[in-house]
Amino acid sequence: MRNLDEQTITQAVLTRNAGTTDQRLHEIVTSLVQHLHAFARETKLTEEEWEKGIEFLTAIGHITNDKRQEFILLSDTLGLSTLVIAQNHKKPQGCTEATVFGPFHVANAPRYDLGEDISGGLPGVPWFVKGTIKAKDGTPIPHATIEVWQADDAGFYDVQKPGLDDYHGRAIIQADANGHYHFRTIVPECYPIPHDGPVGKMLEALNRHPWRPAHLHFMITAPGYQRLVTHVFREGGDYLDSDAVFGVRSSLIADWVRHESGIDPYGIPIESLFYTLDFDFILHLA
Ligand code: BEZ
Ligand code: FE
Repeated sequence: MRNLDEQTITQAVLTRNAGTTDQRLHEIVTSLVQHLHAFARETKLTEEEWEKGIEFLTAIGHITNDKRQEFILLSDTLGLSTLVIAQNHKKPQGCTEATVFGPFHVANAPRYDLGEDISGGLPGVPWFVKGTIKAKDGTPIPHATIEVWQADDAGFYDVQKPGLDDYHGRAIIQADANGHYHFRTIVPECYPIPHDGPVGKMLEALNRHPWRPAHLHFMITAPGYQRLVTHVFREGGDYLDSDAVFGVRSSLIADWVRHESGIDPYGIPIESLFYTLDFDFILHLA
């Protein structure tokens, strides 16, 4: 193959890849090449713009490490994560909807018993969270494993705090035999996604803000059911209609009930402000 030009280059690449034995890989790379070339043709991409694109992706690679996942941020802010989730989680009406995973989950979070404070001693407004894990027909699912992770009251995850090796605001807990879960933590605030890197520069160039509405992350697994990765958002909070990563779904917005003072769900009097949340999750059969 010689003398390839604007018209013939795409087919030449597809022909070169024709020997791929992995059928799915072949399908994906064929489509990627076709769309990439169509994009360059449609936009009449210049060499300077191509170079800028390469520099941008290089910067994303350079800033990415085991604590900072800039590629996920890119996927999230371009809506790719939400698209992939939407087309892979078409569930029956009534099942809890999935949303973005985000870059702040870490493996091997500490295990807590039901009722414990999972904040790891973070200062903040106390929050008592409970609910039931159920199947679509309403039957409780016993002993589901629930991972939760959250920002603090200034909008930071533990992994964003320099020099902090402990886990804060993340936990693995297990629902009881009746599907009930409950724990104590602090109320997380809205936060900007990390925007001191190339994705932040991209948002700025696009006149977009980096903020996410306040939320609590859940990942729930139980044998025989699809894994659910989702959030619970705060009703009436900021950014619900302009989430930087397009993750908000109406069904995931709940009332974080404000109590000026009173008796907490464990029967202990609290003289100051606290919040409660009651949220059930409906899992879809595997
Ligand atoms: C998060 O909710 O933790 C998150 C999701 C997407 C991008 C950045 C953060
Ligand atoms: Fe988050």
